[in-house]
Amino acid sequence: MDFSQYESKSSQEIKEVISGLMKVGGMPNLVDFFPILRPLDPQGLASQGKVCVEKLFAIFDSIIDQRLQKRAVSSSYDIDLSTQNDVLDLLLDINFKDGHELSINDMKSLFMDLFVAGTDSISTTLEWAMTELIRNPKKLKITRFELMKCMHTKRETLNEHDIPQLPYLQAVIKETLRLHPPGPFLVPHQAIHDVEVKGFNVLKCAQILCNVWAIGRDPKIWSNPNAFMPERFLESKIDYKGQDFELIPFGAGRRSCPGLNIAHRELHTMLASLIYNFEWKLEENMRVEDLDMEEKFGLSLPKNIPLMAIPA
Ligand code: HEM
Repeated sequence: MDFSQYESKSSQEIKEVISGLMKVGGMPNLVDFFPILRPLDPQGLASQGKVCVEKLFAIFDSIIDQRLQKRAVSSSYDIDLSTQNDVLDLLLDINFKDGHELSINDMKSLFMDLFVAGTDSISTTLEWAMTELIRNPKKLKITRFELMKCMHTKRETLNEHDIPQLPYLQAVIKETLRLHPPGPFLVPHQAIHDVEVKGFNVLKCAQILCNVWAIGRDPKIWSNPNAFMPERFLESKIDYKGQDFELIPFGAGRRSCPGLNIAHRELHTMLASLIYNFEWKLEENMRVEDLDMEEKFGLSLPKNIPLMAIPA
């Protein structure tokens, strides 16, 4: 199912619900500071979140129902109408084999996790990458030149196997994630026992937010920290896979982002096709210096004013 068509009702619907969830999830909640207030839900955030989850589950229900009907028809006529061999089919197969292991409700929760964690994060990062490149036309040119060189010998479209041949593109993605991590505080963690970290006592059950945004702009770690300089990664081995703590936009350790590998592929191939296939310009009368670089406060840090760029 294609959720990326602007005109399609289903894609707009899912986009709105996910934005709603991100908005509710990113609002400071009094209940986190005064848990005694939880049953009262003073800001109405829990009830708004519930409405969004119900809407999202209704969308998933209808998709799952349609697929179950197709599968039923195909099994009764013994023809293979149904299997699209996608994640939904895979999960339904598991559900049929052993329903107790994975219920339909588990599947919907899993899809919710994937859609909430895996859509905004990618689009926000790409929007920031394009903004930074349009603001730095020389760097956009270098990225494009590298892509042209790589594609020169190929006849097919660019794909994930090309990523290792594109060091500048990789550096652009790293630099974008350093400056604009879509999970600026990661996801809240909780200490499972009292622990001392570099002289700080962290009590059992304390909620920990890790300020990756500040780490990415720390002048003790990065020279000229607020400047967009992909070059800083060309001669460096620093990567975002969770081993180099100065760059952990995906977190680190056992609860780090399970979508890292797909995100890595998506970010590079999508940004590459935007840059390779189009020349970008700003709206008439708009100068590069006028581009708004404010972040919108929330769970992820999208641009406050969306980027308006015109492909040529
Ligand atoms: C630019 C892309 C992305 C970034 C920067 C990112 C970052 C993160 C971060 C920081 C966390 C929390 C890690 C922690 O607290 O230590 C996380 C969790 C998660 N991410 Fe991503 N993510 C991205 C894309 C994706 C994609 C594409 C998917 C799936 C298709 C995904 C699925 C998840 C899930 C399911 C979790 C929750 C894991 C858990 O609860 O243990 N993410 N991500």
